[in-house]
Amino acid sequence: AQKIHGKGGNSKTINIAHRGASGYAPENTIAAFRKAVQMRADYFEIDVQMTKDGKLVVIHDTTVDRTTNGTGKVGNLKFDEIRSLDAGSWFAPEYAGEKVPTFGEILDQFRGRTGILIELKSPELYPGIEEKVAKEIKKRNLHHNPHQRIIVQSFNHDSVQKSKSLLPNVPHGVLAGMNWKNVTDVQLQQFATYADYFNPNQNLLTSELVDRIHSKNMKTWPYTARTQEQVDRLLGLGVDGIITDFPDLLQK
Ligand code: G3P
Ligand code: CA
Repeated sequence: AQKIHGKGGNSKTINIAHRGASGYAPENTIAAFRKAVQMRADYFEIDVQMTKDGKLVVIHDTTVDRTTNGTGKVGNLKFDEIRSLDAGSWFAPEYAGEKVPTFGEILDQFRGRTGILIELKSPELYPGIEEKVAKEIKKRNLHHNPHQRIIVQSFNHDSVQKSKSLLPNVPHGVLAGMNWKNVTDVQLQQFATYADYFNPNQNLLTSELVDRIHSKNMKTWPYTARTQEQVDRLLGLGVDGIITDFPDLLQK
């Protein structure tokens, strides 16, 4: 599903389905990840957190309130409690019975079939999460070379650094919210010592910043495009990939 796009007309822009094809199916569920594969996204993005009893689960918010029929913090609930929740009905009745997936089952079901962009979500709430994520990746031999289409990223840059030291051959990404609007070359240089991607909020990106990121030998996959206009603007800036809720926007 890689398309010919970009400034020079000869670069492939990677299509990353945000939380799965979350415009079409409930985010961070097997249904949304299957849909992403069906829609020929190159990667899908997942958010990883940890339950009270130390299991890695795939969910975006730090509470289960918005995307399940339960309530409470992910870190205060045991895995069995989270697993019993319905993670699909909030989106549409046809998705009733979708579960909160584990990180391991996503790797087992989708590795090799598609790329997986793994976000460590609020890792400061879950001491030791980097080691657990690394263990699951290593168990499946996905850590030996950078071409296995597994990438780890976070807004918490200490966590990215820690993960990179545990998984030196796995590409890593620094996520940057609007507070990084005035990121300096010195800061980019520092990120480039451990990160392969600088993935900013799309509204922060200019063609000048794309060039500065590239000059540090990093790639950039901005988030989260939801309209054709946003996708077209980012393509015009020469980004390397686009994180989107609607993977078909990149195919038009
Ligand atoms: O992949 C980047 C993007 O997912 C970051 O924002 O809030 O959707 O996790 P958020
Ligand atoms: Ca995310």
